[in-house]
Amino acid sequence: MYEHSNKIDISFLPVPDKDQHDPKIGMQGWGYLPYDDPRLLEWVSSIGRDYHIRTMLEIGTFAGYSATMFLEQFDYLEKIVTIDPNNFSIGAGKALKDKYGDRVEYKQIKSGELTKGQIYDLVFIDGNHTKDAPHNDILIAMSMNPKIIMMDNIELPDVQRAVKRNGLFDLKHDPKYLYYTSEHRGRRQPGILGVFNV
Ligand SMILES: C[S@@+](CC[C@H](N)C(=O)[O-])C[C@H]1O[C@@H](n2cnc3c(N)ncnc32)[C@H](O)[C@@H]1O
Repeated sequence: MYEHSNKIDISFLPVPDKDQHDPKIGMQGWGYLPYDDPRLLEWVSSIGRDYHIRTMLEIGTFAGYSATMFLEQFDYLEKIVTIDPNNFSIGAGKALKDKYGDRVEYKQIKSGELTKGQIYDLVFIDGNHTKDAPHNDILIAMSMNPKIIMMDNIELPDVQRAVKRNGLFDLKHDPKYLYYTSEHRGRRQPGILGVFNV
């Protein structure tokens, strides 16, 4: 087992500013999970342990914060493939590769461009949270035969609809979630990170 720190070091990643968004994709992409909160890190570590996560796909790299969190907190993680069409994420992909080597593969593509037939222990969905995108990402994730799907911002209406539509909220499966609040442009707002058995 690796030693976990209770703080994630993100100083090696590029720093986002308000211009680092593709207007065609929308204004999401702030990556404001409370990465410096030991309670989030502990929860994430336990998921990695309980489900023995060795491989994962991340939809939505942005600045590389969550990818770093998984690389640091998942004891068994051998490989994370992280994708994002955002030009800003190229720098994040490079920084991640420089630090973590073969444990990371970044691709500048959208989830819809992923090749079929890939299998991962976990798919983390944190791309476009609007319209049909969350539903399409769940379908892609389910085709990858994961042990679990993790999805950020399940409080947002289109994400919630997609979760329900795909039957991911099945109480028999005892879904776990983590509620957090974050500050975005001076506004505090809630967020929920969900984990679903598939
Ligand atoms: C909320 S951010 C991701 C934050 C990151 N997971 C973190 O927590 O540090 C959302 C990102 O998803 C990307 N995105 C939007 N649509 C996408 C798609 N179809 N496939 C992959 N990434 C997408 C955006 O460019 C944006 O950078």
